[in-house]
Amino acid sequence: MAFSSLSKLLLSLCVVSVCVCSAARFDELFHPYWASDHFNFQGQTVNMKLDKFSGAGFSSKSKYMFGKVNIQIKLVQGDSAGTVTAFYMSSNGPKHHEFDFEFLGNTTGQPYLVQLIFMVDETPIRVHTNLEHKGIPFPKDQAMGIYSSIWNADDWATQGGRVKTDWTHAPFIASYRGFEIDSCECPTMMADSDSMRRCTSKGGWWDHPRMSQLNLHQSHQLMWVRANHMIYDYCTDTTRFPTVPIECQHHRHH
Ligand SMILES: *[C@@H]1O[C@H](CO)[C@@H](O)[C@H](O)[C@H]1NC(C)=O
Repeated sequence: MAFSSLSKLLLSLCVVSVCVCSAARFDELFHPYWASDHFNFQGQTVNMKLDKFSGAGFSSKSKYMFGKVNIQIKLVQGDSAGTVTAFYMSSNGPKHHEFDFEFLGNTTGQPYLVQLIFMVDETPIRVHTNLEHKGIPFPKDQAMGIYSSIWNADDWATQGGRVKTDWTHAPFIASYRGFEIDSCECPTMMADSDSMRRCTSKGGWWDHPRMSQLNLHQSHQLMWVRANHMIYDYCTDTTRFPTVPIECQHHRHH
């Protein structure tokens, strides 16, 4: 599987101008937070492995508010059934915000599934528009760390948990390179309210009006993805949510 570039934006899903910042090396920005003995470094590439004994994970050294993160991830090749490789951002605390991309593995030749979980104040949403005036929380006020991890989830991940991890194919390796963070860095001890003041007074590109909504091309891309690759949308899952969640009622793509 080829390296694919994954951009995650706070406050917006659109991909902006090419990042001019140079690709910073892994250890300037990140460190292992789980199983550092399951890491292996090859030049600019970081390999993280899952075996019978442990998964592994890394996190950013700093927290950020607004901005863009780029990492190229090469998911587990071949038989990846039972494995989950996640790339996520999360703030701390009880009413935390989280953007989570989970790549659910599959048997050889079968497609990966990407599960997107956006949590704002602990509520899962998938809307990028700020509708706070309608009472819908928006993730703009908590500094977030950036994380990735690989772990065994064969109780639910692949084909609903029917396909188990085949440990004779271990170790399962996810590779990473091209680490870039173009974001407002927040000192660890700084209160979120102070970080927010600091990060919105700098005239960062994230405050530019063009960042507040998708352009025409991007909204077409989103419609295409939804039409061709989306297999589940909690907004239309009336069995699970008999009352349509409030943010879904305002769901618009333009
Ligand atoms: C794995 O492949 C099957 C068959 O193509 C598909 O139904 C399923 O959504 C894929 N992904 C996962 C994670 O099970």
